[in-house]
Amino acid sequence: SGSKLWGGRFVGDTDPIMEKFNASIAYDKRMWDADIRGSKAYAKALEKAKLVTAEEKDYILHGMDQGSEYFSNALHIFVLYLSVCVFYQELIGEPAGKLHTGRSRNDQVVTDMRLWLRDAISILKGNALQLITTMVERAAVEIDVLFPGYTHMQRAQPIRWSHWILSHAVALSRDVEQLQEINRRVNVLPLGSGAIAGTPFNIDREMLRQELAFDDISINSMDATGQRDFIAEFLFWASLCLTHLSKMAEDLMLYSTKEFSFLTLSDAYSTGSSLMPQKKNADSLELIRSKAGRVFGRCAGFLMTLKGLPSTYNKDLQEDKEAMFDCFDTVHAVLQVTTGVVSTLKINPSVMEAALSPDMLATDLAYYLVRKGVPFRDAHGISGKAVFLAESKSIPLNQLTVEDLRTASPLFSSDVSAVWDYSSSVEQYSAPGGTAKSSVAAQVEHMRTWLKKQ
Ligand code: ARG
Repeated sequence: SGSKLWGGRFVGDTDPIMEKFNASIAYDKRMWDADIRGSKAYAKALEKAKLVTAEEKDYILHGMDQGSEYFSNALHIFVLYLSVCVFYQELIGEPAGKLHTGRSRNDQVVTDMRLWLRDAISILKGNALQLITTMVERAAVEIDVLFPGYTHMQRAQPIRWSHWILSHAVALSRDVEQLQEINRRVNVLPLGSGAIAGTPFNIDREMLRQELAFDDISINSMDATGQRDFIAEFLFWASLCLTHLSKMAEDLMLYSTKEFSFLTLSDAYSTGSSLMPQKKNADSLELIRSKAGRVFGRCAGFLMTLKGLPSTYNKDLQEDKEAMFDCFDTVHAVLQVTTGVVSTLKINPSVMEAALSPDMLATDLAYYLVRKGVPFRDAHGISGKAVFLAESKSIPLNQLTVEDLRTASPLFSSDVSAVWDYSSSVEQYSAPGGTAKSSVAAQVEHMRTWLKKQ
């Protein structure tokens, strides 16, 4: 127990099984860089508080830089919380024993996490913006392609393909905004909180804040060391973001089936079957869909860990790291793969347009009557009768003669033929947010402007 951080009051050794059970180094090591940044800043604060001399501080900083090189050049797995470990004693010598003055692993580890997550958030934001850019530019190029829109998975109304793309891009833009919101709460300095009660030394927390470029310092030392709501927020963010992508992946999977044939995935994002030579499976999309379940599991699992904990630091909180790392890794990969899928898939515009059918214009047929003064409820009923008539005659809706239609309403005349045109149908939906070309083009512009502001 001699090398332990708490050696003094212990006699026997830790049971090896307990040692392994308790260890977090296997994943803590991902935060070595953050830990060194935090420790260097803390050494400076110690000097200012006259707890170490200028010489000792320089010694520590030098040792930290060597440590930094050591960790970045080699795949050594070493004990984190370097200030107090044997490795650091060797590297820094005597002054190492002073670095942990007033500091606890409780404020140290949560400082590391906030530093690490701040960088992770900026990487994810970059990945998300790249995906959104890809989608918006694709929507701009393919704006003239029409295809069936579905509600309840049933054929609903003709829409622009770009309208579909943008519907997902807009949801992702909210994910980016939410990520920024979360970052405001992540970017708060806990260092100087000690284990629970704060610091009794003259540690200049404002100086630490500036050194580590945090926006604020934590208000309450018990809150700062014992809460992990910023992690829970991040895990929920990951869950919601991947839920958005799962929805998009599901649509794309359906559209890429032989039965739909609206689009073809690139071979680069597909796999084959070991048994059936003809198969081309959309594994990329299936994995994107599945990862939503994975990160939600992390979120639910960690909330369950938090629920019922008493105040302040409890070892349960060590579970926060694997959840955070796993959600980062997963979302990081998913966003990049989705960008690849979306930028390489090929659409089949003729198949998409051929999939439109006149029954999808039944709403427009009702609107035709509305424009002639019929209340919508009645117009809906009349159009429904026309649909019934066409079905009973086993003909498409647009094959009904004006005489046929007049049996449902005397207001139908020969100008009804103008209804049976998909291009003019979508052009009616020109209010902001609609599927008319001008409106979809405005959505593209809106998103481009939004992207420039990010
Ligand atoms: N590995 C621990 C964690 O991540 C470090 C903090 C330990 N603090 C303590 N008082 N045991 O939560």
